[in-house]
Amino acid sequence: MSKMSSRDMSAETPVKGEEGIAETMAALELEGVARSFSSGDEELQILKNVQFTLSKGEIVSLVAPSGTGKSTLLHLAGLLEKPNAGDVLIKGQKTSRLNEAGRTALRRDEIGFVYQFHHLLGEFSAVENVMLPQLAAGIAPRQARERAEDLLKRFGLGHRLEALPGRMSGGEQQRTAIARALANKPSVLLADEPTGNLDTKTADLVFVELMRVVREEGVAALIATHNETLAASMDRTVTLTDGQLVAC
Ligand SMILES: Nc1ncnc2c1ncn2[C@@H]1O[C@H](COP(=O)(O)OP(=O)(O)OP(=O)(O)O)[C@@H](O)[C@H]1O
Ligand SMILES: [Mg+2]
Repeated sequence: MSKMSSRDMSAETPVKGEEGIAETMAALELEGVARSFSSGDEELQILKNVQFTLSKGEIVSLVAPSGTGKSTLLHLAGLLEKPNAGDVLIKGQKTSRLNEAGRTALRRDEIGFVYQFHHLLGEFSAVENVMLPQLAAGIAPRQARERAEDLLKRFGLGHRLEALPGRMSGGEQQRTAIARALANKPSVLLADEPTGNLDTKTADLVFVELMRVVREEGVAALIATHNETLAASMDRTVTLTDGQLVAC
């Protein structure tokens, strides 16, 4: 992959309707993103002026000490929260001017989010959990089931399609959660310590599968992890220092 940053490319004025523009656009950009929280009289400035570009298909690890703002950053990038300043761009689209419905639609169609804990819906089977985001996006049930089964099989869960989350192992649950995050073919996958709840051996296995499927799908990914070996297997690593995102 070219090392030219997609910011260079996206800086060019896009011509509406021109073929290939979406191909050259970065999947995710953070422009001067800031976020603070008030704690008593104090204002905690967690993110100050975050600049970041995630190119299409690129996999980046985010490794930083506890409390530095990794989850905060991922929630902003995933349009789950709003920055105090700056803008989050998804495929070149500025999100600050979108209303709630617009943010929700963009999140559903373009962003997959994986949490440390799986958050699967307990009353639905594995395959149904992976179908649900697709049904919400208006995909026909038959097509949604096909996609869900295909994804779960690629995560080695072909024999667990009808299992309820409560009957699955931690590794199986997390594989299902990753499959669900990929269900709507997002442009961006955000993962907040996706294997942090698993024992080391299971975490490594799940991680290898996550990387393989993410590459197969061509999804750009930003993955927070405390595991430096896992981080080293990604395209590059960034860290948070003094509220800024910097290269490692
Ligand atoms: N909703 C909130 N209200 C107040 N403070 C918050 C809120 N969310 C996060 N913080 C504070 O912001 C800082 C960064 O939190 P964050 O959860 O983003 O860190 P982290 O890097 O993900 O840490 P960890 O590795 O432990 O998950 C912490 O000091 C935290 O207490
Ligand atoms: Mg966190």
